[in-house]
Amino acid sequence: MCGIIGYTGEEEAVELLLNGLKALEYRGYDSAGIALSKGSEIIVEKSQGKISQLERKIEGENKDLSSHCGIGHTRWATHGKPNDINSHPHATENLALVHNGIIENYAELKKFLEKNEHYTFESETDTEVAAKLIDCFYRVTRDPFRAIAEALKLLRGSWAFGVIFKDDPGVIYATRKDSPLICALDEKGNFIASDIPAVLKRTNRYYTLEEGEIALVCADKVKIFDMDKRPVKKEIKEADWDVEAAEKGNYPHFMLKEIFEQPTVIRKTVSPRVKDGLPQLGIPKLTDETLKRFKRLIIVGCGTAMHAGMVGKTVIEKLARIPVQVEIASEFRYSDPILEENDLIIVISQSGETADTLAALRLAKEKGCKTMAVVNVVGSSIAREADFVFYTWAGPEIAVASTKAYTVQICAMYLLTLRLCLIHNSLPLVQVKKLTEELLDKMPVLVQETIDRSGEIRKIANRFRSVEDLFFIGRGIDYSLSMEGSLKLKEISYVHSEAYAAGELKHGTISLITQGVPVISVATWDSCYEKMISNVKEVRARGASVIMLCKKGAAAADDVSDFIIDFPECSEMFMPMLAVPSMQLFAYHMAVFRGCDVDKPRNLAKSVTVE
Ligand code: F6R
Repeated sequence: MCGIIGYTGEEEAVELLLNGLKALEYRGYDSAGIALSKGSEIIVEKSQGKISQLERKIEGENKDLSSHCGIGHTRWATHGKPNDINSHPHATENLALVHNGIIENYAELKKFLEKNEHYTFESETDTEVAAKLIDCFYRVTRDPFRAIAEALKLLRGSWAFGVIFKDDPGVIYATRKDSPLICALDEKGNFIASDIPAVLKRTNRYYTLEEGEIALVCADKVKIFDMDKRPVKKEIKEADWDVEAAEKGNYPHFMLKEIFEQPTVIRKTVSPRVKDGLPQLGIPKLTDETLKRFKRLIIVGCGTAMHAGMVGKTVIEKLARIPVQVEIASEFRYSDPILEENDLIIVISQSGETADTLAALRLAKEKGCKTMAVVNVVGSSIAREADFVFYTWAGPEIAVASTKAYTVQICAMYLLTLRLCLIHNSLPLVQVKKLTEELLDKMPVLVQETIDRSGEIRKIANRFRSVEDLFFIGRGIDYSLSMEGSLKLKEISYVHSEAYAAGELKHGTISLITQGVPVISVATWDSCYEKMISNVKEVRARGASVIMLCKKGAAAADDVSDFIIDFPECSEMFMPMLAVPSMQLFAYHMAVFRGCDVDKPRNLAKSVTVE
């Protein structure tokens, strides 16, 4: 999604803004721009395409862009095509503005503004309406703060705004609703940013802005006020991510680096939660008594995060015997769900900013339910609003396709399952201990062994690099894994693929299985293994080329598959930790063979802050 950076301080702003935008490239974008305060002027430079295109444009114009204050933006088109005019910043006679989010009532505000002789519209965006609305109030008040505060009262939707005014050079005004924005503090100036990696090379100290706050970011200080201009006291936060964590190092792509980080992040997430060999969630305020009170768990998320929830459902129901429902956040929020007092709503999100997941969380709270977030970004909106927070320690995930974040999300599901088993006495203590030890000590080693076989998986991907359709099949938990494997393949290699519950295929879709169609069969779950083999035979009989994902030595696999990716022995519940990284690698190698932009797949954004 869109990215925002702003800088004011003693250094040249252009370079800092462009570097900040480059650090935000991973969020996905299709145009970029900057606005600089220069004396009593504002200079705007923007361009469709990559930041390098904007840089070439700037170089070609050979203008004097020296300035110590400016704002920058990467746009992911929502209202209007990606082109120069629709790109941000949007400027008026008095100000320039960058915006993340969507102004829902832009059409009605536009009509209102069009009646004013000062305003005609050149872009198709909702953002231009916001810029002109603030401008309209500024003409009357000549006070930037009041102009913004008045405009906010009329806006509906979501926003993070960075605004500079001609008459107030050196100050960036920032405010937000339902879209993240931080004010970061550095010795030589201060920043605004939509995301921590944008400023990580310079500082890890920041304030998060809350809804209803307006920040005045100056070279030597950041002042934050409520809408009535009463100062708000805030705590400075420190991100514990380092610069290397947000850089590629020697890897060709962030995605590959992040796949290989999985053993490390599993340890980081699990080890602080194991005490005396037993799982401790360590979530403030979430005592065993509280946890015991919940009779049903509802797990909500989007995409990969929701798939992690599906793994959670299978293991919690199987081992802790508590009913679990998994919901797609964008559906859940509009489904008028029946929620009971004894339900715990668990939202899963890497970014902690996904609009639909955040809305689902708020809905659950409105209905009086307790909420728990499994989230990776510390201090994100979802983390701030949930009653209980389980932080996953995956570090920054830069590639658009989620890999290491998924793996630690399922670790969170495992720890929760094991704790529930203890609380509800559904498994003997020794067994809980054994499983906890396995998760902590054995699994990172086995995950390492699996990803070290990247070369073998690459060879298989090479064989299938030209296919246009592919199927994943599985039963039970393996169906959830198939969905994740299929999503990963689609999003980065653009190969059409579908995930099917293996037993469901013959109710229609098997008509698509013809000679040579690849079918990835995930068969890690013992109780369904034999049924799976029958389903694999069915597709094979129709000519499918079968790639089997199963345990080492799984009987019958040899007879029914063309390729085997097999995994070392571990408890069944942990098999997803081995199967999914293998599928991540398959998708990765397919994407590389097909010449795709692995880390920034087309049309996609890292943090989906709009509905
Ligand atoms: C796929 C992927 C997405 C995200 C989804 C939710 O690889 O990354 O499906 O999982 O957009 O994002 P978060 O976890 O940030 O809420």
